[in-house]
Amino acid sequence: MHLLFLFDHPLLIRMRESLSAADCATAGMHRVPRHREGSSRDGRMSAMVTFLSLNAGWSLERGPLMVPWREFVPRRNSKRCQRGVFVNTPGVGIRANFRLRAILFCTVVWLVMAGCEPHAAAQASKPASTHHPGRAAHPSNAQLADPNLEGRVDRLLRQMTLEEKIGQLVQYNDTGDASPAPPAKGDQGAIAAVNPESGNHVNAMQLAATGRLGSMLNTIGAERTNTYQHLAVDQSRLHIPLLFGADVIHGFRTIYPVPLGLAASFDPELVVDLSHMAAEEATTAGIRWFYSPMVDISRDPRWGRTVEGAGEDAYLGAAMARAYIRGYQGDSLSKPGNVAASVKHFAAYGAAEAGREYNTTDMSEIRLRQDYLPPYQAAVEAGAATIMSAFNSLNGVPSSANPFLLKSILRGEWGFNGFVVSDYTAVMELMNHGIALDPATATRKAITAGVDVDMMSHFYDTQLLGLIRSGQVPMAVVDEAVRRVLRVKFATGLFENPYAQGVEVTAAVAEHRPLVRKAAEESFVLLQNDKLADGAPLLPLSPTRKLVALIGPLADDKVDMIGAWASAGNEGDIITLRQALAQRAQQLGITLLYSEGTEIDSSSQAGFSDAIEAARAADVVILALGESSAMSGEAGSRAYLDLPGNQQQLLEAVVAAGKPVVLLVFSGRPLVLDWAAKHVPAIMEVWFPGTEAGNAIANVLYGDVSPSGKLPMSFPRAVGQEPLYYNQFPTGRPPTLIDLSKPPAEGTRFFSRYIDVPNSALFPFGYGLSYSSFSYHDVKVSKGSIPLAQALSAQSLPLLEASAIVTNTGDRTATEVAQCYVRNLGASIEQPVRSLEGFRRVTLAPGESKQVNFPLGFKELSFFNLDSKPTIEATHYTVWIGGSSLASQETAFEVVSPSGMADSH
Ligand code: BGC
Repeated sequence: MHLLFLFDHPLLIRMRESLSAADCATAGMHRVPRHREGSSRDGRMSAMVTFLSLNAGWSLERGPLMVPWREFVPRRNSKRCQRGVFVNTPGVGIRANFRLRAILFCTVVWLVMAGCEPHAAAQASKPASTHHPGRAAHPSNAQLADPNLEGRVDRLLRQMTLEEKIGQLVQYNDTGDASPAPPAKGDQGAIAAVNPESGNHVNAMQLAATGRLGSMLNTIGAERTNTYQHLAVDQSRLHIPLLFGADVIHGFRTIYPVPLGLAASFDPELVVDLSHMAAEEATTAGIRWFYSPMVDISRDPRWGRTVEGAGEDAYLGAAMARAYIRGYQGDSLSKPGNVAASVKHFAAYGAAEAGREYNTTDMSEIRLRQDYLPPYQAAVEAGAATIMSAFNSLNGVPSSANPFLLKSILRGEWGFNGFVVSDYTAVMELMNHGIALDPATATRKAITAGVDVDMMSHFYDTQLLGLIRSGQVPMAVVDEAVRRVLRVKFATGLFENPYAQGVEVTAAVAEHRPLVRKAAEESFVLLQNDKLADGAPLLPLSPTRKLVALIGPLADDKVDMIGAWASAGNEGDIITLRQALAQRAQQLGITLLYSEGTEIDSSSQAGFSDAIEAARAADVVILALGESSAMSGEAGSRAYLDLPGNQQQLLEAVVAAGKPVVLLVFSGRPLVLDWAAKHVPAIMEVWFPGTEAGNAIANVLYGDVSPSGKLPMSFPRAVGQEPLYYNQFPTGRPPTLIDLSKPPAEGTRFFSRYIDVPNSALFPFGYGLSYSSFSYHDVKVSKGSIPLAQALSAQSLPLLEASAIVTNTGDRTATEVAQCYVRNLGASIEQPVRSLEGFRRVTLAPGESKQVNFPLGFKELSFFNLDSKPTIEATHYTVWIGGSSLASQETAFEVVSPSGMADSH
C-alpha cells in the first residue's frame, strides 16, 4: 500500500519522467513545432512526382508542378503549413543527471515488482494475453495474436529507444529527396518546393535511415520503395523494415470498376478475385498495405466519396467489406502476393451532413450501430489487420480522438487487434475541430484514444517525446501502439521479405484483363430498355442498325474511365468505347460515326451541330455522358446531381434528332436522370469501368453479355430528396394510396410527402434490368413462428429459412440477383420499412427455375434497443423476395413469447 502511494509521489513522478527521457538521451536533436493556425496537406504530391518520373519520364528538375497530378490523386485544399525548427537537446550534464535518477528509479521499480507505470522492458517480458486481460479473448486476427510472433515483438521492443518506438508510429510519403542528408534548417528548400503544402522540412529518407519512420504512403514504384527500404533495413540501428501503404482502391495497374460500381455486381466472390489480383500486382512494387476497403455507408450522393464505397446499405456493405479483406489478406498475411488491409474511414464518415466533404456527422447510437457500423465490423471480423480513423467528428467527438469508437467499440466489443492509422493529417486537424489548442494536446488525445499511427500530421514525431516525459502520455500507451505496428510487420513477413516481390508490374497485365472486363460487365446497371415501334427493346443492339453514331465527351476518353483513386493505372492501357466499337463495327460491317459533342464540363455548344448531324444520319445513337472522374472521390461533393456542363442540352438536342438513343451514364454517384427517364428509351449506368471499359460496354451493348447489375444506391428524381434510401423509417403519416405524382389535392397534403416530387426513387436500390426477365413465386418461410427464447439463444445459427422460386421467363440465359428483404413490426423501437437481409446471384437458362434460400438468424432479425444492445423481441416479420427493393411477393412469420407479444418489451 505504502509503496503504491510512493509511486504517485511527485518526486517519483519526476523520476519516472527522467527515466523516459533517459531512453531518448541518444537523440541529438528533436523538433519543436511553432504552432500555427491551419493544417498542412498533400505531401502525396511528391509521391506522384516520383510515380510520374518513373512512369512518364518526368523528373523533379523539370518541374513537378507542371504535372497534372490531380488526375491521379484527389485535390487538396491549400492550407497554411505547420512549420518546425530544429533545436539541439542539451547535453552531457543532463545526461549524467538522467543516469543517477534512472538508477534510483529502477531500484524502486524493482522493489515494487514493476508496479504501476509499466516500463517497456518490464511490459515486454509479459506474454501477450496478459497485456489486456479480457480483450485478447477473441482477437479479430489470429495471426496477430500468435504467441511466437509476440515473442519476436517483445524481443525487438526491449531493444528500442524511445525515438525508435515513436518512429514506428510515424508515417510520411516520399518527400522527394534524393539522399538521406538532413533537411536544411529553417530553409524551405527543394523539399518544400515539391511538397509545397507540408513545408515540414522532413526528409523521409533520413528518417528511414535513422529508424524514425515506421511506414510510408503512396510511394509508387519498386525502385523507390526499395530505395527507402534499404535505408531502413541496412542503415537503421535495428533494421526494422518500413511498411509501404497505398490507396489501391480498385486495382493497381489493371483497373476494375470503382467500388460503387463493383457493389452493383452483388458479387462478393468476384470482389475477392479482383482484390487479390490488385494485391498481387502491387506487391511487385513493394506495396504491402492497402488503404482499402472503404466501407463507409453513404445515403447521400452529393458526397463525392460515395464512389469509393458499396453504397447505402449495411448488409451489402458488410458482404463487400468481407470480400475485400479475403482478397487482400488471403488466409495468411505473410503469403507472397497478399497485403494488409486498412478498413476506412472509421467511422460514419459517409453520413457527412448535406453531403459536404469532411462535414460533421451526428446520429443516434442506434442508427450508428444499425446502419453505419456493420461493414466496419464485418471487415474487422474477417481479420482486417489495420483500420483508418476518419476525418469527421461523430456526435461532437472527432473520430481520430474518439475513445468510444476506437476503444469501446473497436477494441472492446470487436476485439480488434491490428493497428489504427489516422487519416491524412487527421491528428493535426483535431486543432481545426477545436478540441485541441496545440499539437501536444492533439497528439495526446489521438494516441490515448487509440490512434496508433500518425499519417502525415508531423505531430507524433514532434510531440510524443515531451508528452511521455511530462507523464501526459503513459509509456505503456506508446509501447502498445508500437507493439500493434510491429505485430503487423512481423505477420506480413516484412522482416524476411522487405523488398518488392517478383517482377514489377508496370502496366495493365494482359492475363488480368478478362477478369476486370467481367467485373465491368457485371457492374453495369440497365435502368431502362423500352420497346420501340417494332416491338423489340432497343438493347441489345441489333447488328442490322448499320449506321451507329457514338456521341459524347466520355466516348473516347481514356483518363476518366479509371475513376477516382486511379492508383497506378496507366491511361495508355485503357480501351475506350470508341476503340471497342470501332473494332466491333469492323467485325459486323457497321459504320461508326463519332462526335464528341461537348466537353464534360463546358458551356460551349460549338460541337453540338456536328453531333446532331451524326445523330440524324444514324440508325441508332449511343450517347456517352456523365461526370469526369475528378467530380467524385475525395473532396468531390456536388450540390447538383445532374449531368455536368451543358450535357443535358446536348442530350436533349440529340434526342430531338429523332433516332433511338442509348444513354450510357458514367458517374461516381447516382445522378438525377429524370428527364432522360421520360425521353430516352435505353439508359445504362456504367460508373467508371476501368481498364477494359470500352470492351465491356460493347459486349453488353451488343448482347454478348446480359446486364445483371443492381443499384447499390437509390437514384433520386430531384436532389432535394437527398438523403434518399430505401430502408427508411416509417412515419406517422405515410402517404399510402395517394398519387404522389401530382401536387397535393384536397385531403392529400398533410402526409409525409413533397408537394412537387414523388417520394420514391426514380430508380430504387436493388433495381436493374436484364435482357431476359424473371418471375418470383412460392415465397415462403420454413417456420411460421419461433419461440422468443430460441431466437435469443441461437445467436449464430439460422432460425428459419426464407425461400422463393425464381424463373427465367425470357428467351436468353441471364443472371438475376435475387434479394430478400425483411420488416420487423411491433418492436419497442421503430424499424425500417424493409431491410436487405440476403441476396444470391442465380444464372438461369430460358424457362429454367431455381429455388433461392435465405437463412435468417439472429444477425438478420435483431435490432439495437435503447441500451444499444442487439436483441429480438416477440414481433411480426414480413419477408419479401424479389429482384429489387420494391419486391412485392411476401410472406410472414412471428417471434412469440409464452405470455404474448406485449410482454417481451
Ligand atoms: C483519404 C484517405 C486516404 C489517405 C491517404 C486521405 O486524404 O481520406 O482515404 O487513404 O488520404 O492517401
